[in-house]
Amino acid sequence: MPPHQPHVVLGVCGGIAAYKAVDVCRRLVDVGVYVAPVLTDEATRFVGEATFSALASEPVQRSLFDEASPIPHTRLGQGADLVLVVPATAHFLARYAAGMADDLLCATLLATRAPVLVCPAMHTEMWEHPAVSDNLALLVRRGVLVVAPEEGRLAGGDSGAGRLADPDTIVARALDVLGATGSVVGPGRGDLAGRLVVVSAGGTREPLDPVRFLTNRSSGKQGHALAEAAARRGAKVTLVTASALAVSPGIDVVPVASAADMEAALRAVAPRADVIVMAAAVADFRPKAPAAHKLVKADGVPDLVLEPTPDILSGLAAERRPGQVLVGFAAETDDPIGRGRRKLAQKGVDLLVVNDVTAPGAGFDHDTNAVTILDADGGATAVPLMSKSAVADAVFDRVTAQLDPERNSP
Ligand code: PMT
Repeated sequence: MPPHQPHVVLGVCGGIAAYKAVDVCRRLVDVGVYVAPVLTDEATRFVGEATFSALASEPVQRSLFDEASPIPHTRLGQGADLVLVVPATAHFLARYAAGMADDLLCATLLATRAPVLVCPAMHTEMWEHPAVSDNLALLVRRGVLVVAPEEGRLAGGDSGAGRLADPDTIVARALDVLGATGSVVGPGRGDLAGRLVVVSAGGTREPLDPVRFLTNRSSGKQGHALAEAAARRGAKVTLVTASALAVSPGIDVVPVASAADMEAALRAVAPRADVIVMAAAVADFRPKAPAAHKLVKADGVPDLVLEPTPDILSGLAAERRPGQVLVGFAAETDDPIGRGRRKLAQKGVDLLVVNDVTAPGAGFDHDTNAVTILDADGGATAVPLMSKSAVADAVFDRVTAQLDPERNSP
């Protein structure tokens, strides 16, 4: 049987960034994807139908009623392996979140079971408006994937958050999603192909006695999402985890319990790694002398003497091989960015992902997260509330930009 050609419905909304959807369309077609463009009426004020019709795999569709088929939205929705919306405007996000079906794009979105990837772009004030955040958060809860906008120049000479993500990033994410559904990208074909990515996850457990331990609230969800994302993007992945969450076949799992176990496991694999991402919540302190036998009430309240655990990340940074990219996480409750900046410098990492664990829907045990990715040059990328899987991709988008293209794992 010939391989299935992946079908993408490319929705284009009316924003100044619509011209970049032309590039996304062309690149997808170039790598063998069938692209069916659907433009909203507003989109045609910014880009011409003829441009998309010339580049895409079939002519532009705009209306629920013009096609020979009486139900174009179900033809498009049912046949899609992915619906990609570039740019997703505030108006579109509101209509999609409300379940409207009054134009071809929104009706197609209701008529599909394919993954949906939206790429918002708008002015900073609109992007930061609670109405837009709430609509996006609702869509994320329904499983919609997001390529977050970047900071940069906006229409009218303004500058700030809300600029459409780079077409390279959008195409890479679209191919990753298609790869995850078995459509295009196989092992070794994503932007982390040929790389060894090591991820740590979960909260370590520090024994008090043979039946008790000290631990924290980390579920391992964010670390496991990072491992899955790296594998989807073609990496060979080793996941050192203190969590019992399920892991996809093909990922090497090293189960650990304590900080000492985690340190030993990471040190064993670190010399070969191209990327190390420490999402684990490693205990900072452990009982100095865990009891060999169960502590019993009759002996009274034990004196709990703690000692510091090794700082694994700083140790890995001190011994890293040239070209290796090191990413730390920081779970913070106060002054997250200030503390994150200090941690980035103290730990000697390339990127530090600051996780304000007091933000609604973010941090421990949620399926969603919101973070800020700090880099060693003083830059900061805000990643608004989205699935932990989408946050993982936002982290790897930054990691791939730092990897030396000439160098692979030994
Ligand atoms: O697991 P989830 O429920 O999905 O929650 C995700 C998360 C909140 C745990 C995750 O997003 C997160 O923020 N992880 C880092 C938590 C943390 O321990 O932060 P920290 O500020 O204490 O540590 C900073 C960095 O140093 C981390 O990369 C940590 O792995 C590392 N560290 C810390 C202590 C230590 N002894 N050795 C280390 O290597």
